[in-house]
Amino acid sequence: ASKQRLLVVANRLPVSAVRHGEDSWQLEMSVGGLVTALLGVKEFDTRWIGWAGVNVPDEIGQKALAKALDEKRCIPVFLDEEVVHQYYNGYCNNILWPLFHYIGLPQEDRLATTRSFQSQFDAYKKANQLFADVVNEHYEEGDVVWCHDYHLMFLPKCLKERNSKMKVGWFLHTPFPSSEIHRMLPSRLELLRSVLAADLVGFHTYDYARHFVSACTRILGLEGTPEGVEDQGKLTRIAAFPVGIDSERFIKALELPEVQDHMKVLKQRFAGRKVMLGVDRLDMIKGIPQKILAFEKFLEENPNWRNKVVLLQIAVPTRTDVPEYQKLTSQVHEIVGRINGRFGSLTAVPIHHLDRSLDFHELCALYAVTDVALVTSLRDGMNLVSYEYVACQESKKGVLILSEFAGAAQSLGAGAILVNPWNVTEVAYSIGYALNMPADEREKRHHHNFKHVISHTAQEWAATFVSELNVTIVEAQLRT
Ligand code: UDP
Ligand code: G6P
Repeated sequence: ASKQRLLVVANRLPVSAVRHGEDSWQLEMSVGGLVTALLGVKEFDTRWIGWAGVNVPDEIGQKALAKALDEKRCIPVFLDEEVVHQYYNGYCNNILWPLFHYIGLPQEDRLATTRSFQSQFDAYKKANQLFADVVNEHYEEGDVVWCHDYHLMFLPKCLKERNSKMKVGWFLHTPFPSSEIHRMLPSRLELLRSVLAADLVGFHTYDYARHFVSACTRILGLEGTPEGVEDQGKLTRIAAFPVGIDSERFIKALELPEVQDHMKVLKQRFAGRKVMLGVDRLDMIKGIPQKILAFEKFLEENPNWRNKVVLLQIAVPTRTDVPEYQKLTSQVHEIVGRINGRFGSLTAVPIHHLDRSLDFHELCALYAVTDVALVTSLRDGMNLVSYEYVACQESKKGVLILSEFAGAAQSLGAGAILVNPWNVTEVAYSIGYALNMPADEREKRHHHNFKHVISHTAQEWAATFVSELNVTIVEAQLRT
């Protein structure tokens, strides 16, 4: 049989474009859990529809970019600067993102946000319509259309209005918050209703799915059943589909000569010291200041460790046009500078902080040679960095310290040391516990998590979602 055709629609394409001339483009890998998960999806005849991360006002540029993307089976949605400003920087990343992660609206510009809310929501709907137009242009009968994340909550409705037979799924990569949080959104009704237009709605965890169902029952007054939400006889299936990674890609990479070379260099560089690793987009949900303060407390209380441990923090710049992210960058720099000044020596500093992304091979090498990974998210849909660390630790059996507020805590909780990132004392204690952990305990914990990571892959996640979507549609036809 030929493969099922799948249209993946996400704001972010797996590659982002950099312009080099009137009609010449360079494509770089995009960073983020959504891209990592979807790159692991292989059993379908897949096309991606999304934004390439740049403004392309001219037709020559658009044509050339569409052609370059076509080779990667990607189809661009062109968004102009004003839309990006209002939809992406504004509604998505200044309102939905902080709210869905229980951070609330940015303190200083709460009033400004309140004032611009309506225009930003209008831009959000407009952007979603632009995505829908591109989907309609490329849709063929029988295709599965899989919409992704908080950027595209309006898309299922746009698609179904045009073609009620289209198979439409929607998956959220972030947490879905308690209905008490969702209620604050002026657009709360419209967002829920448009998501419910999908045939199947998926979340990483059972808790997020439950929150969504109770938002629908309390805010829309609909009936929630174990299967999903029912509105005038029409059922929208709602379920949990925890994502995973393409673990083989990581495990195999460790054998490559260039990765081995990176590992050698790193081992020499940090010989005689234990190395702790943080890998995050520089985002307020990742709890980077909290992590660094906990590390400071650990150094404060354990003078004997001061020259024997370093923290490597990779902080990938992200959403740099949003003021809250700019503030976070300077805040983190300040804390790192202060601590390095306090505990550094002429030859060594306790924190190595990098404001950039690494390529895949460098990242794998880091995952493999480090002793402890520190994931301190204040909230996180899943957190794939924790999965990647485990996948690369078969020989070293390093320790994972993991926030209980990451979706991954529900799957890797048995092997990780779970912490509340707000509790600096607890995290500092866990750092010491991890650094001193005997080999047999490390091995046992690692084994637990490794088994999970290799048996819950991105491919299975996608296969389960798509087959569930197909079943849902057959069942709906039987009911009518
Ligand atoms: N990542 C990357 N380059 C880097 C640092 C991170 O490609 O320099 C990837 C990392 O491998 C992981 C993803 O970014 O797959 C982050 O996903 P996660 O789910 O942990 O968090 P998100 O960024 O989606 O909030
Ligand atoms: C999270 C979101 C993704 C997003 C990624 C990177 O993982 O769930 O939708 O792609 O962060 O953020 P960016 O704004 O650069 O796409």
